[in-house]
Amino acid sequence: MLNGKHIILGITGSIAAYKAAMLCRLLVKEGAEVRVIMTPLAKQFITPLTMATLSKHPILVEFFNPENGEWNSHVSLGEWADMLLIAPATANTMAKMTTGIADNLLLTTYLSARSKVAIAPAMDLDMYAHVTTQQNLKTLAERGVAIIEPGAGELASGLVGKGRMAEPEEIIEQVKAIFAAECKRTLSGKRYIVTAGATIEPIDPVRYITNHSTGKMGYAIAEELARRGAEVKLITGRTALPTPQGVERIDVLSAEDMYNATVKEWELADGAVMCAAVADYTPKSVADHKLKKSDDDLTIELCRTKDIAKELGSNKGNRTLVGFALETDNERANAEGKLQRKNLDFVVLNSLRDKGAGFGGDTNKITIIDNNSREEHPLMSKHDTAKVIVDKIERVTR
Ligand code: PMT
Repeated sequence: MLNGKHIILGITGSIAAYKAAMLCRLLVKEGAEVRVIMTPLAKQFITPLTMATLSKHPILVEFFNPENGEWNSHVSLGEWADMLLIAPATANTMAKMTTGIADNLLLTTYLSARSKVAIAPAMDLDMYAHVTTQQNLKTLAERGVAIIEPGAGELASGLVGKGRMAEPEEIIEQVKAIFAAECKRTLSGKRYIVTAGATIEPIDPVRYITNHSTGKMGYAIAEELARRGAEVKLITGRTALPTPQGVERIDVLSAEDMYNATVKEWELADGAVMCAAVADYTPKSVADHKLKKSDDDLTIELCRTKDIAKELGSNKGNRTLVGFALETDNERANAEGKLQRKNLDFVVLNSLRDKGAGFGGDTNKITIIDNNSREEHPLMSKHDTAKVIVDKIERVTR
């Protein structure tokens, strides 16, 4: 897959720069031609000699060679590359990429690059979670930069959390997936809706009812559909996730908001994947002031929300409608009931009884059920789960 690909590996000043050595070695092993650009600070973390030896080419750091005045042309580098891969990408470099600051060779190359761009962020957990970093990530993703998410674990600071650069092997897989998606645009011209995340039902201006959905599963599906060329509208409850590349995101809060947005988009859609965890009940009335506590118990009267999937199913025509079933017991019968009641083409069952399945984590374990068959899949990443679901969509799409 990477044979003959021209990849610029950008290394910025992070302790994770040591992993760039292994990453470079793997890229070369996969047949890629690699040129390395380091920021001046990156040289403090890993030596140019190491990277030059592994990439088999001199390292580029400065705009020109001070010995002989020869320019390192960022424009021709940008034209040469099939991909600019920045790993590790610091918060500083991401912020500069967002605002167009061009004070080193890597950043000028980024601004000149016509190729795909992917970044693997690496930083401390609080820096990663900071609203500015998250906003920058969102902006870059909206501009088409592929974000290779950091993992969670022990960080250089000694703290534990999300911010550790993805492992080189994982980065290689994602780089391959980016190139593969280019070739496999099998859903070109199709328009899909994906609902994702949790809805929020207000009780008063301070409190609300919600659930544990993070949006990870739905976002992975939206990303996979977009990779295969579909036009995707992602109707999403509140999440901390960046918008997947090439996806149009519509933010909503309550089940009612999600219903309105989804029904509106359904008019022009070829299909929908209903992955959101939508509230089935909402407070009958929302207090316009903060409810004061007293010594008495409090009863909140709830009323039913509208079933979005069922509404789309009642007006499906020959379009593709996929639902999820999140169960804790009697899984198969419940999922089959949803398949019928909502007039789905297939239902994706995930059970909270399976370790690693359902809410929150990066994995899921699903069974795909339609009117004729039942496919059980092993525990896998939500990205791979999304691929399995989109493969099935391709098979049932008329
Ligand atoms: O977001 P993550 O943290 O990654 O977690 C993923 C997930 C567990 C949320 C996801 O895999 C999942 O199971 N989503 C569906 C959750 C759910 O609400 O399931 P349900 O069995 O209650 O609903 C059945 C189907 O009807 C779902 O497709 C749901 O989107 C849809 N529905 C439900 C209620 C409603 N009012 N309108 C709907 O459209």
